[in-house]
Amino acid sequence: MTEDLTGSGRLIAPGADSDERAVEAALRPRTLAEFVGQHRVREQLSLVLEAAQRRGTPPDHVLLCGPPGLGKTTLAMIIAAELQAPIRITSGPAIQHAGDLAAILSSLTEGEVLFLDEIHRMSRPAEEMLYMAMEDFRVDVIVGKGPGATAIPLKIPPFTLVGATTRAGLLPGPLRDRFGFTGHMDFYSPSELEQVLYRSARLLDVPLAPDGAAEIAGRSRGTPRIANRLLRRVRDYAQVKADGVITRAVAAAALDVYEVDEHGLDRLDRAVLDALLRRFGGGPVGLSTLAVAVGEEPETVEEVAEPFLVRAGLLARTPRGRVATALAWRHLGLTPPPELAGAVTLFDAPDDRLDNSVG
Ligand SMILES: Nc1ncnc2c1ncn2[C@@H]1O[C@H](COP(=O)(O)OP(=O)(O)O)[C@@H](O)[C@H]1O
Ligand SMILES: [Mg+2]
Repeated sequence: MTEDLTGSGRLIAPGADSDERAVEAALRPRTLAEFVGQHRVREQLSLVLEAAQRRGTPPDHVLLCGPPGLGKTTLAMIIAAELQAPIRITSGPAIQHAGDLAAILSSLTEGEVLFLDEIHRMSRPAEEMLYMAMEDFRVDVIVGKGPGATAIPLKIPPFTLVGATTRAGLLPGPLRDRFGFTGHMDFYSPSELEQVLYRSARLLDVPLAPDGAAEIAGRSRGTPRIANRLLRRVRDYAQVKADGVITRAVAAAALDVYEVDEHGLDRLDRAVLDALLRRFGGGPVGLSTLAVAVGEEPETVEEVAEPFLVRAGLLARTPRGRVATALAWRHLGLTPPPELAGAVTLFDAPDDRLDNSVG
């Protein structure tokens, strides 16, 4: 099919492209108090920051884990702002050589925050240099080549590393262990997303009715980045096709135009479910067969559509292939086959299942 289903151009893609980053910067909360949701992370972090400030030393290194669009970069900036410290921003992929990292580390000022996004994508040698820098505030700079090479230890001022990763599992243990605090970010509840939306609407000066906020929140996949993006698209629609006010009806009509359904599924998600149900009787079917059926690369189906479908309880990955759940059949207005009836609770109501096993 077409490119517009995939990548960051997709309306419900959790990643941001460069245009979007500029808009996002304007919508970012600047203080912990302004940051919506993530109560546990926020509370723990505020203790870490306050204690460090009282001691007058830079706080422990902080690792932020979680899917894209949940506020990791935002929190990193808030940490620096709360500490009134400057922040240096770089990312794992930008640090290919240990020398790149040495240059950054040796130019830090005391108390500076170093934000290392996608820290799991750093090269091995750089990672090893980072261990030492995090622990001893020291790096070994290698001068010369071959047998004559010598390591010159270089002291660096105490700093705070804030690492962010979408794949905590890919971080080597020794690196993970050197963070004094790890914050696990969770998907946001609909009411938290509504708060994000009200805040953004105020900043963008868009009239947003409560039922309009609820409608957008319900389609945002638990992700503030997606909520903000849908808000901007709905605003366009409201200004062109209505009187500018975002009500439930306006939001629903706008998101229908953009083909984002009431659960946040878009065209690719629905194409995958549709093929799985109608062509393969609900599975199991292999990933590559499924991808061919929707005219996409297997990677696109696996990395773009499936994570949300799995999380929403619509699709299961099994050793024999992809399987639709009873919920998926109902979502497409179909009747689940009788053999799924017994499995309904397996995917739909894990809590019931727990209760059953206890009682
Ligand atoms: N807790 C939050 N409260 C308000 N807005 C948020 C929150 N978390 C994220 N956002 C908004 O979502 C967008 C994406 O957040 P970002 O920090 O870039 O996510 P990540 O780095 O995890 O991919 C930003 O524009 C930010 O304003
Ligand atoms: Mg980020």
